Amino acid sequence: MTPRRVDPVQGPLEGEVQVPGDKSISHRYALFGGMARGTTRIRNFSSSEDCQASLSCIEALGVEVVRNGSRVEITSPGWRRFTAPARVLDVHNSGTTIRLLSALLAAGRFSSRVQGDSSLNQRPMKRIMDPLIRMGARIEARDGGFPPLLIQGGRLTGIRYRLPIASAQVKSCVLLAGLMAEGETEVEETGPSRDHTERALPFFGAALIQDGARLRVRGGARLRAVEFRIPGDFSSALFFLVASLLVPGSRIALKGVGVNPTRAGFLSLLDKAGIRVERSNATESNGEPVCDLQIRADSQVRKQFPNEISGDWVARLIDEIPALAILGTRLERGFKVRDAQELRHKESDRIRSVVVNLRQLGVDVRELPDGFVIPPGSRIRGGRVRTFGDHRIAMAFALAGLVAESPVELDRPECVAVSYPDFFQHLEGVCRR
Ligand code: S3P
Repeated sequence: MTPRRVDPVQGPLEGEVQVPGDKSISHRYALFGGMARGTTRIRNFSSSEDCQASLSCIEALGVEVVRNGSRVEITSPGWRRFTAPARVLDVHNSGTTIRLLSALLAAGRFSSRVQGDSSLNQRPMKRIMDPLIRMGARIEARDGGFPPLLIQGGRLTGIRYRLPIASAQVKSCVLLAGLMAEGETEVEETGPSRDHTERALPFFGAALIQDGARLRVRGGARLRAVEFRIPGDFSSALFFLVASLLVPGSRIALKGVGVNPTRAGFLSLLDKAGIRVERSNATESNGEPVCDLQIRADSQVRKQFPNEISGDWVARLIDEIPALAILGTRLERGFKVRDAQELRHKESDRIRSVVVNLRQLGVDVRELPDGFVIPPGSRIRGGRVRTFGDHRIAMAFALAGLVAESPVELDRPECVAVSYPDFFQHLEGVCRR
């Protein structure tokens, strides 16, 4: 693929951006719609390659999927009537697909094999295998914990499970398996993680009881089909919010963005720092808060933005850290990320990817086992960086190009399609050159 050059901007960014439908929520509505009997109708479904993978996988289980732009119709006989896939299930780059889908496969009366691309096949699966095996599934994995997974499904039994890490994917996997198991399943969270599953399931008719950090579902659930418009993806909007902070005076209006507090930790961070975010046209859609967002930032941001992300903040900002690293290079007091070891298990080792690329652009960043430290007074020189095939690394370093001293060239830019196929067109649309 041809590299992509991002040139420094000459002035503030301006315009309106409609980001794609939320990726996390689209995965869930695809899979829950696949489990529910009847026709689920979804509008503003994510255009990401990741969510297309979820749709293709449920199709392979005997579910009918009709795609019409961002509208998707899923017609299913219900999870009890899933049929054995005729081929190996391919989740491509999507960690959410494999971790949530494995619950569906574990409850199926058949065996299946599921795998992804070379990056996905390096991602740890023991975290979902452990609880599913305790529930009665038989799962084999490469080297004991990596895809391909060979899943022999069957009758599952409910369990009580305390999550060893704060992970929405693991939490959702156990809850889904619990809906198809015998008896009750309880999941206890050890830290906050995104709660789209908990918000969506009641609309599909599943009784989910929340008691502090404990979540309970009953097995043998009958899910019903729903209609829903997916909110705009906060993690995609984030790149434009950060761009507005990087280039003072910018005005980018982001329409219909999902602002679920377990996802929009970045907005809380800005509120806490006294940086104004305009929120308008607030509504709610199937339990998910949505609004338009615009930041009008001045150069004070360099003083006001927090210079450390750690502790519970990490889970609420986990996908945003590569972009925050770019903002971190502009901050007066420098920028530090701690407690983010989970970043090493994402689409790439995101601590390494950020460190390698920032160094390549002349920033003297220090790598930590669980984060990194960017010293105050850093400048971004420009040059060639690697995306490591990781969409969020590609988009973060495109932002670096906007404020670098000379252009930044991305080696494999096409990976942005994993979450945001139109990213470069939308970015060019708000840039003045
Ligand atoms: C996701 C959960 C997060 C996040 C990922 C999407 C989800 O992963 O990083 O991009 O949709 O549930 P973990 O659950 O592993 O933290």
